[in-house]
Amino acid sequence: MKRIKVLSVFGTRPEAIKMIPLVQELARHDGLESLCAVTAQHRQMLDSVLEIFSLKPDYDLNIMEPRQSLYTITAKALTGMEGVLEAAKPDLVLVHGDTSTTFVGALAAFYAKIPVGHVEAGLRTYDKYSPFPEEMNRNLVSRIATLHFCPTEANVANLRREGITEGVYQTGNTVIDALQTTVKADYAFVEPALNGLDFGRKRVILVTCHRRENYGQPMEDIMSALAQIAGEFPDVELVYPVHLSPVVQETARRHLDGLANVRLIPPLDVADMHNLMARSYLVLTDSGGLQEEAPSLGKPVLVLRRETERPEAVAAGTVKLAGTKKEDILAMTRELLTDEGAYAAMAHAVNPYGDGHACARIAAAIEEYFS
Ligand code: UD1
Ligand code: UDP
Repeated sequence: MKRIKVLSVFGTRPEAIKMIPLVQELARHDGLESLCAVTAQHRQMLDSVLEIFSLKPDYDLNIMEPRQSLYTITAKALTGMEGVLEAAKPDLVLVHGDTSTTFVGALAAFYAKIPVGHVEAGLRTYDKYSPFPEEMNRNLVSRIATLHFCPTEANVANLRREGITEGVYQTGNTVIDALQTTVKADYAFVEPALNGLDFGRKRVILVTCHRRENYGQPMEDIMSALAQIAGEFPDVELVYPVHLSPVVQETARRHLDGLANVRLIPPLDVADMHNLMARSYLVLTDSGGLQEEAPSLGKPVLVLRRETERPEAVAAGTVKLAGTKKEDILAMTRELLTDEGAYAAMAHAVNPYGDGHACARIAAAIEEYFS
């Protein structure tokens, strides 16, 4: 019997974290052949994930440039994908989420008339410019995709409202599958800067920030709020693995370098990151992935954005939208650091994003589609 050839396409750190468990699950199915192409829209941050999960991509477009623009990512990845699809001749292309790689992967497959499966489908803010360009990327992929793998019921409902009812599956988010393989009680950190942390004595605030729509004034305000929190709470340690984007590096270092209780450290490998999160007191972030991971570890999250496409953990009480205004971030962080009741009300583990079996459900849906 001919095996169904599935080509998974990804390019950035979060896509890799959420797609590699699926690539590996597909490879365990006799009826499927699992191939993988990376655009390498991220280079070092992607390679770190490939290494941890021991995955060697079948195709690597190696497109990353310093300070790359949306135009160059899109153009280089699209042209590169033409050759990959001609060589691999897949029966199905899988893309993940909402990055430029995601959109281009889906568009390239459409040009080759190959069906597309969209993993992490149906997330929406309904604000075209926030997150930018992700909201438009995922909308466009929903138009192209044949199979839609939605993490939650609300994501399914979003697609239904847009008239997409065929090929829609509620699977949970594959990030929870990944998290279950990385977090361990006796974990020893690889990054030396983390080994000196005394989680019992100091409350650790884990920080990340990278979104394009936060570039400029919002990011200035966020960093300024972080500096003030560090000054007001000497018993707190801010640990901030800084994204390699030069814009983020420059802004973070200008505000936070040299502060006694702030550790600006390189991006962490995903196992270090998940275990750091599991031991932290609080998470301040504009990341999408962290909003999904921290709730399942029972860690309160303040989201440094005006909106979120992940309202489930907000409804469950573990995540709050802090926005990007300095005074709002300060007020909400101070509350969680000084009011035990307010902290306890948020610090409970919830799993709205999955049960760790998303990859198996997606594989089963793919087999069903081709049967
Ligand atoms: C991209 C995605 C965003 C996702 C984020 C995850 C787009 C438009 N944006 O944003 O949706 O949330 O990844 O982190 O698809 N860089 C390196 N090494 C790396 C990675 C990045 O040096 O390993 C630097 C490069 O200078 C690069 C810059 O960071 O030009 C920005 O990377 P890019 O992928 O364009 O944007 P992100 O902000 O990472
Ligand atoms: N992450 C990581 N190392 C870091 C920062 C983040 O492994 O130094 C992981 C994080 O746990 C999550 C994913 O990367 O799984 C989120 O990536 P990012 O915030 O870059 O992108 P987003 O989720 O916002 O698209």
